[in-house]
Amino acid sequence: MAERPSRRTDPLDGQAALVTGASSGIGAEIARVLAEDGADVAVAARRTDELEALAEDIREEYGAGVEVVPTDVTDSDAVAALVEATVERFGRLDIAVCNAGLAVDEPVADLTDEEYGLMRGVNVDGMFYTAREAIPHLTETAGHLVFMGSMSGNHPRPANPVYAATKWWTRGFAISLQASLGEDDVAVSTVNPTEVRTEFGSESGTPSKDAFEPGEVTEAIEVADAVAYMVRQESPNSITSLDLYRRDKLSHF
Ligand SMILES: NC(=O)c1ccc[n+]([C@@H]2O[C@H](COP(=O)([O-])OP(=O)(O)OC[C@H]3O[C@@H](n4cnc5c(N)ncnc54)[C@H](OP(=O)(O)O)[C@@H]3O)[C@@H](O)[C@H]2O)c1
Repeated sequence: MAERPSRRTDPLDGQAALVTGASSGIGAEIARVLAEDGADVAVAARRTDELEALAEDIREEYGAGVEVVPTDVTDSDAVAALVEATVERFGRLDIAVCNAGLAVDEPVADLTDEEYGLMRGVNVDGMFYTAREAIPHLTETAGHLVFMGSMSGNHPRPANPVYAATKWWTRGFAISLQASLGEDDVAVSTVNPTEVRTEFGSESGTPSKDAFEPGEVTEAIEVADAVAYMVRQESPNSITSLDLYRRDKLSHF
């Protein structure tokens, strides 16, 4: 009988990851699960206190190396410095998670230039800058580039067409990058969740963690688990897209 490859228990041992938007919600949980699976992690966002507290937790719980890099992803120099700091600290980059994102919910006719620019700046420019800086390192490690998409990147979102458009852009960018980088052995993945209980929505009032009861919608750690599954894929495999929808979402769509 042919030998059966075994499943790995510490799949990310010896690998280095960076996660944007790691100061809360989904990004913080992604940093935790990647460290739990054996990776060292650089955590990036604007709020330094939250990043420091997360880093302390991860070091204590998993013994992983953690680098805190305060970063505004709308600033291309800051993103370049983030990638440089990660590679300087860990000597390599295997996983880049482009997760930072936000929504300002206003009808399009009422959106100010600043509100529009904020969504475009974080959700589009920030994803582009992070990918651009990470790619040269990921081609060296046959690594993973992960994007945080949304169900709103697969379907219309009447309450916020601009947010939806940023996530359609992300999905289009990611699948085209997979086409561009696949021959360099880089995996490019997008995860598309429905509602997740986090600080998402704070810009327009109520954060989703207060808008929904526990058990009603997806939890951040469940999205992080999906990311962990995507990045444990080894060459030649890539999960290009993973829709993580709550079961009744399509019934009310
Ligand atoms: N929650 C949902 O229902 C849901 C559903 C589908 C997809 N998503 C996507 O999931 C991703 C994470 O959101 P979340 O739900 O975890 O919300 P969250 O708790 O509000 O987290 C958003 C993260 O993005 C960071 N961020 C915002 N602006 C930034 C900037 N200019 N530079 C660097 N970091 C910035 C925030 O950190 P700082 O404020 O410290 O900078 C924070 O860490 C987003 O891409 C969002 O679109 C969320």
